[in-house]
Amino acid sequence: MKVYIETYGCQMNVADSELVMSILGKEQHTAAASIDEADVIIFNTCSVRQHAEDRVLGRISAEMTRKRQKPHMKIGVIGCMAQRLGDKLHQMNKGIDFVVGVDQYQQLPAIIYGLEQKEDFVTATAVNHNETYNNLYPVHTGDFNAFVTIMRGCNNFCSYCIVPYTRGRERSRPVEEILQEVREVGEKGFRDVTLLGQNVNSYHYRDVDFPELLRRVNEISSIRRIRFVTSHPKDLSDNLISTMASCEKVCEHAHIAMQSGDNAILKRMNRGYTFEHFLDIAAKLRKAMPGFALTTDIIAGFPGETEEQFMATYHAMEAIEFDYAFTFKYSPRTGTKAAAFTDQVPEAVRLERLQRLIELQQDITLRKYQEQTGTIKEIYVEKVSKKSDKEVAGKSRDFKITVFPGTSDLIGKFVKVRIVDAVGWTLKGEMIEVVDG
Ligand code: SAH
Ligand code: SF4
Ligand code: F3S
Repeated sequence: MKVYIETYGCQMNVADSELVMSILGKEQHTAAASIDEADVIIFNTCSVRQHAEDRVLGRISAEMTRKRQKPHMKIGVIGCMAQRLGDKLHQMNKGIDFVVGVDQYQQLPAIIYGLEQKEDFVTATAVNHNETYNNLYPVHTGDFNAFVTIMRGCNNFCSYCIVPYTRGRERSRPVEEILQEVREVGEKGFRDVTLLGQNVNSYHYRDVDFPELLRRVNEISSIRRIRFVTSHPKDLSDNLISTMASCEKVCEHAHIAMQSGDNAILKRMNRGYTFEHFLDIAAKLRKAMPGFALTTDIIAGFPGETEEQFMATYHAMEAIEFDYAFTFKYSPRTGTKAAAFTDQVPEAVRLERLQRLIELQQDITLRKYQEQTGTIKEIYVEKVSKKSDKEVAGKSRDFKITVFPGTSDLIGKFVKVRIVDAVGWTLKGEMIEVVDG
């Protein structure tokens, strides 16, 4: 069967879709080149905000037209919504053929086979806190960057967040499995790896913690760049900072969610750190690694947030000057602690606060990008620029898209570039020399 997976949500889901393709590939299923060719369409879904769920439900309904024209076609839902809603998804849309939760992907080939035989709706959403999908090699689909899952689940229970309910308890993959996968992706030509987990700082397998894992990945010769997402501020140790600084392949960039700049809100969010702690780690990271880029997530309008508390976040963003911030309007998630708080902020206020944060960050990002003029960066060239075939584009170690005059023979190479300008959120450069590739 030809399978098409449409992926929503975070990088963990992108990595899981690659894992699912590998599981299905073992049973001779292949990836459909486009949705038009698919015998099976799988939606890998996200529950983090209501909007994410609504969007995918809309997409599933839209695909029912195709199913009516191609009666043998199957439509399945996997990922966080499948885990959260199970059978309810089928009640919401009778055209859905299967719902498979995040720990049950190994069952997918048998489920698809069963549907081919008898066409009954199937659901498999049992939780298995030990499942780490060992001995499976995901079909990496990125061009140059490979996502490698190092842990699954989350134990933090931030009061607004659905992830600990959909993804279950934290579990780390065996260190040898991870190193083996990184070696394999390196040999296949991916020189940039991103280690994935909801809180990579709490990685722990036997005597190996996250800094030690980074040191071991750093020794793999085929890899040139290492990134990781996401780190939790409460677990970001001095040992990790010094390891990042001493491992030459670990890039000068981290995504660390601040969520709020107000201590009472952080406490109610159950984040386990203060704003002062966050400031301290931001300063330490920037001191340890010159040119360090910091990106973050922020929630506007968490229950009980006063205008004053919101302004604390606003001023925190002004003071820290993140290179980029993903800003979200608080979305109540059924079953989480914060959804039951009685002092919910009205929707219009949430929206208006979000708007102010977006505008503030736009100015900061533009300024930060313009400040890069005159610096020299190493770019991993990924493609010919969309705007001109005489230019190529790639990413710097500090995760900024950079475009410069060049031709397609540079794709896949590392090039030293002088930054001459910034246009919006893209850096413009001039090539100095090819350094590797
Ligand atoms: N594990 C990651 C976060 C994963 S979810 C971490 O802790 O860094 C990605 C982001 O979605 C979160 O950082 C948060 O800013 C946002 N988010 C999570 N739940 C939300 C909700 N209920 N409403 C709005 N934003 C939310
Ligand atoms: Fe959600 Fe908090 Fe876990 Fe991140 S650390 S996934 S925000 S509960
Ligand atoms: Fe969404 Fe699940 Fe990731 S809820 S953010 S896809 S872990």
